[in-house]
Amino acid sequence: MRISHSAAALITTNSLLACVSGYSFEQSTYTNESEVPFYGLSPPVYPTPEGNGKSSLAWAAAYVKAREFVAQLDLEEKVNLTVGYQTSVCHGHTGSVPRLGFGGLCFEDGPSGIRGQDFVSAFPAGSHLAATWDKNLMYAYGKAIAEEEKGKGVNVILGPVGGPAGRVTRGGRVWEGPGPDPYLIGIQLGQLVTGIQDNGVIACSKHWLFNEQEYRRLPTINYGEAMSSNVDDLTMHELYAWPFMNALRAGSGAVMCSYQRANNSYSCQNSKLMNGVLKTELGFEGFVVSDWGGQQSGVASANAGLDVVMPWFGWWQNLTTMVTNGSVSIERLDDMATRQMASYYFLKQDEKYPDLSISPYNVQHPIIDVRDNHSQLIREIGAAGTVLVKNTNKTLPLKASTARFVSIFGYDAEVKAEAWEDPTRYGGGYDVNWGWNTFNGTLITGGGSGSNSPPYVVSPFQAIQQRVVANKGMLRWDFFSGNPTVEASTQVCLVFINSYSSESFDRLSLTDEFSDNLVNNVATNCSNTVVVLHAAGTRLVESWIDNENVTAVIYAGLPGQEAGSSLVDILFGDVTPSGKLSHTVARKEEDYGEVLNSTIDYSAFPQSNFTEGVYIDYRAFDRNGTVPRFEFGFGLSYTTFTYSNISIVQRDNVSVAEYPSKNISIVQGGHPELWDVLFEISAVITNTGEVAGAEVAQLYLGIPTAPVRQLRGFDKVMVQPEEAATALFEVTRRDLSTWDVVAQEWKLQKANYTVSIGASSRDLRLNSTIVL
Ligand code: NOJ
Repeated sequence: MRISHSAAALITTNSLLACVSGYSFEQSTYTNESEVPFYGLSPPVYPTPEGNGKSSLAWAAAYVKAREFVAQLDLEEKVNLTVGYQTSVCHGHTGSVPRLGFGGLCFEDGPSGIRGQDFVSAFPAGSHLAATWDKNLMYAYGKAIAEEEKGKGVNVILGPVGGPAGRVTRGGRVWEGPGPDPYLIGIQLGQLVTGIQDNGVIACSKHWLFNEQEYRRLPTINYGEAMSSNVDDLTMHELYAWPFMNALRAGSGAVMCSYQRANNSYSCQNSKLMNGVLKTELGFEGFVVSDWGGQQSGVASANAGLDVVMPWFGWWQNLTTMVTNGSVSIERLDDMATRQMASYYFLKQDEKYPDLSISPYNVQHPIIDVRDNHSQLIREIGAAGTVLVKNTNKTLPLKASTARFVSIFGYDAEVKAEAWEDPTRYGGGYDVNWGWNTFNGTLITGGGSGSNSPPYVVSPFQAIQQRVVANKGMLRWDFFSGNPTVEASTQVCLVFINSYSSESFDRLSLTDEFSDNLVNNVATNCSNTVVVLHAAGTRLVESWIDNENVTAVIYAGLPGQEAGSSLVDILFGDVTPSGKLSHTVARKEEDYGEVLNSTIDYSAFPQSNFTEGVYIDYRAFDRNGTVPRFEFGFGLSYTTFTYSNISIVQRDNVSVAEYPSKNISIVQGGHPELWDVLFEISAVITNTGEVAGAEVAQLYLGIPTAPVRQLRGFDKVMVQPEEAATALFEVTRRDLSTWDVVAQEWKLQKANYTVSIGASSRDLRLNSTIVL
């Protein structure tokens, strides 16, 4: 990385800190580790590299068109492209150039379905999708969401979510993304971006970077600046930036910078993050858009690499002045406009893109139904991401004979009437959107911009009732009482509870007394109690998990509009459970350590030091020897699997040099050699049970100097009884590398790497070693 900068004119937090600390950032590498800035300092990196389309022929062609387009614009038209307006139609809309037939780009939330519209689908949340561990479903989800956005004429989808990564267990938005493992997040992000963009919509991967908590995510007049996430260089690369590499590699046309400060410089004016890591190291060709209201400065943000400001009318005038007086160069402005247009052409949105048909809320409009048959996919993902964690004496699946008399309890079993009285409760509003919570009944997603607008909700009660009717059974229910009456002849009691979470605040607890008492009260009177939990994040279960009358427990996640149907598929065995946890469920909250809660700091310049480094979730539990209740990667099935025949084959056509070679130019996603497959590892998975089922085989590597084991592959294979299938893992150079903070490169170590394949992060069935 050779960067010359002219920070003299820019009095930013970055440059001030750099002056104070006396670092020189013009060197290509640091000479020793003590020179590498620790967290809290964000080195200035200027100027912004101009996007050039060198990543691929498709990007090159897009850049030719984008440059031609921008060359025809005057100053005001160029500036106009960089400004987003919030309209009653689009959540954000960049300026248009009518004389050239460009209508601007329309941006909409969000990651799990279009928010605030009718005749659109409510998909499962990102965390639910991750619990499927199914790459094909991840791709199909991205494609389906894009079909809906495109169907309504939206150009940019504000997703997928790769951060929060889930550092803070009680973080309010953890459920929007996969959970606290960078590899799993990376695979999901890559698949979603590919699915979205294969269908012509620009994916806006977010939030770049370190948006790990809600408390003080923005500056306030009363308190002061936003929280600063202080993260060291190695942790940034190996944990938080890692998943975005997959998104970029898959071609993400946009990236959203985040609200909070990163190493004391606001993310949307952080030159190290945008000019340095994103646009230099990772070769980003597209444009950076601010989170809504996330731009906190003018010149500094423009020169640090921000390309589109959302949403601010005033920016138009200010940027024009800055360019006229030279504080922002015309080259930077051209680059801002060119990057945006390049993404537009890269996705071929100039060729027959549907007209915008987003409707303002509660204004009569023609029906534009974009749902196609996505309800089937939603139901499938709903079931595939449902995680069974306890099943004593084969309580599940229920059969017509064992579930003739069913009792249903708990507020989460049914959609309550109130939910339909207030449209903002189901995504009707743009800004007031609290999603679904305890008071609304069945929790199908979390709250805030990651929420969605279901066209209907199939509640668990409704779906179970249908099945009971078909079985000529008998149903009793009570959704309100904390200590309901259980009829003596009930064969099975289903208790529904949930745990709500939303953008804009962090959770206060991973349990709640009312729900825990409800479970225990029912279990006292019912020897066959099945608990179903819809949860926006981690939910602990200690107060009743060992109760012997609690015979089965299901984490039903945040399954979207087909919640009840997906659940019934699992409950009655039409689908064999195959979901696995994408986070660790501890025995007690304190087991998560310092990162249980968001950092609370009342000072004017609040600081959150990520001193745990890469040791979050299972990495920390493994290091500390803490026994979880349910480990990362865990989930039961109705069948059983054995693992055998581990095989490791080194690909002989790639170089296994210590560092990736120097003389290869960077493309979007980083150094291309990082993606070379060095080893193919496989194992045979045999279904030894009586029903067909899918197994998520997981590959963990022990990389020297890194956590004892890290997820570096997974493969979900469907296996018929008494048959076998091969799980395959392609291990890339990046998967084996660590970030060298001195050389500022990914590096392979000459050492032994342990290889384990198993059914979870603690159920490792096969072991071997790679020697480099
Ligand atoms: C703020 C959220 O942080 C972001 O994720 C969302 O896309 C925007 N608001 C727009 O709603």
